[in-house]
Formats: sequence, structure tokens, C-alpha cells
Amino acid sequence: MPVTVRRFVVFLLAMLPLIYLLQAVIRVQQGEWNLLGPEPGRAIVFFTGTWAFNLMLATLAVSPTAKHTGWRWLLLHRRMLGLFTFFYASLHLLAYSALLLEWRWMEITQEIIERPYLTLGMLAWLILLPLALTSTKGWQRRLKRRWKSLHKWSYPAAAFMAVHYLLQIRSSWFEPVLYTILVLALLGLRRWPLLQPSKEKFSG
Ligand code: HEM
Repeated sequence: MPVTVRRFVVFLLAMLPLIYLLQAVIRVQQGEWNLLGPEPGRAIVFFTGTWAFNLMLATLAVSPTAKHTGWRWLLLHRRMLGLFTFFYASLHLLAYSALLLEWRWMEITQEIIERPYLTLGMLAWLILLPLALTSTKGWQRRLKRRWKSLHKWSYPAAAFMAVHYLLQIRSSWFEPVLYTILVLALLGLRRWPLLQPSKEKFSG
């Protein structure tokens, strides 16, 4: 499949959650009140947060999958997945500020400072911001080797996301724990020499 077609498919797949959300919001506006549950604002915050995390996991999975299978073409799509992670995380932050706290800036700032799970979510978003801004080829050239070190900050960002989710455990622990295990596995694959594939396979 040509790379432009593949890029389009990845773009379309990453847009699907947003399309789903928009049609649900329109249907709620049109009178299907219960579609997003009793608290639509909170449902939108949950949905965008979950998709930001899903795309983060997909982005982190690209390099180990490419290494272990030899499918180097996957690496061409990592940037788009990373940018969509930032996009959904920004929608999540926007939904929290607009729908839950109705732009009450003092309260938003106070909550972020006082609630550790929000502090960690904010830290994760603040890390993603420069990564998204410097994701272009131009910045890659300008920063040279520093670009790679900068983009390794995605690892602590993923860890912060996991703790942000874990700290919200109330009744169901399954999903936050599953996401945390996946983050640990994906970061562990980068550290554990026994799990590193041979160079020949990767260059193949
Ligand atoms: C940057 C990356 C972030 C990711 C990946 C992320 C992910 C998530 C996830 C997965 C959930 C739980 C969804 C569910 O239970 O179904 C969540 C909930 C939430 N997040 Fe984030 N989050 C991020 C940043 C932020 C930021 C910056 C804020 C606000 C400052 C924030 C505020 C919230 C709030 C208020 C909830 C709902 C808590 C509740 O009412 O139970 N998140 N987030």
C-alpha cells in the first residue's frame, strides 16, 4: 500500500473517536438526553482522556513492534499518532476547563495545584506540548541529537498518565491497572536487553 494511502488510513482511524463524539453530542442536543449518561460533560472528559491514553499506547508501541517484526514502515506513522495523542489530551483539558469548571480560572488553577491526579495530568500535557511543537522535520534537523533526548520525555509523560489514571480508582480498578501494565511493558521493552531484537531483523 502506498505511504500516502497508509497515512490517510491512520488519519481516518485516529479521527473516528472524534467523529463518534461529535455525532453523540449532536444527538444529545437534538433531544437524546441519555445518550452520554446523566453527566454528559464528565462523559466527554472520560472519553477524550481514554482516547488520549489509547493513542499514547499506540505511539509507544510503534518502535518495539517495528523492531520485533522488521516492519520499519510503521515508524513513518509514529508522528501522526503522537500528534493525535496531544490533540485528544488537549480536547480532554479543554473539556475539563469548559464543561466541568466552566472556565473558572482560579478554581482550575487551584484544583490542578491541590489535586495530585490533576497535577500529574497537567504535567503529562505540558510534556506533550513541546513534543508536538517540535515534531516537524525542520525541528528534527535544528535540534539534531537533542531532538531524540527531548522526545524521550514521552516516557515520563506516559508514566504520569498512568498515575493520573490510577489515582482516580474508585470502584473499577481493572482499566487503570491494565493501562499501567501496558505502559510498564512498553517502557520495559526499551530497557530490557533480553527483549531487544537482533539488529539484522530490524534492518530487514
Ligand atoms: C495529558 C494526558 C492525559 C491523559 C492521557 C489523561 C487520561 C485520563 C483518563 C484515561 C481518565 C479516566 C477516564 C475514565 O475513567 O474513563 C482521565 C480522567 C480525568 N482527567 Fe485526564 N488525562 C490527561 C490529562 C489531564 C489534564 C491536563 C487534566 C486537567 C487538568 C485532566 C483531568 C481529568 C479529569 C477531571 C478526569 C475525570 C476525573 C473524574 O471525574 O473521575 N486530565 N484522564
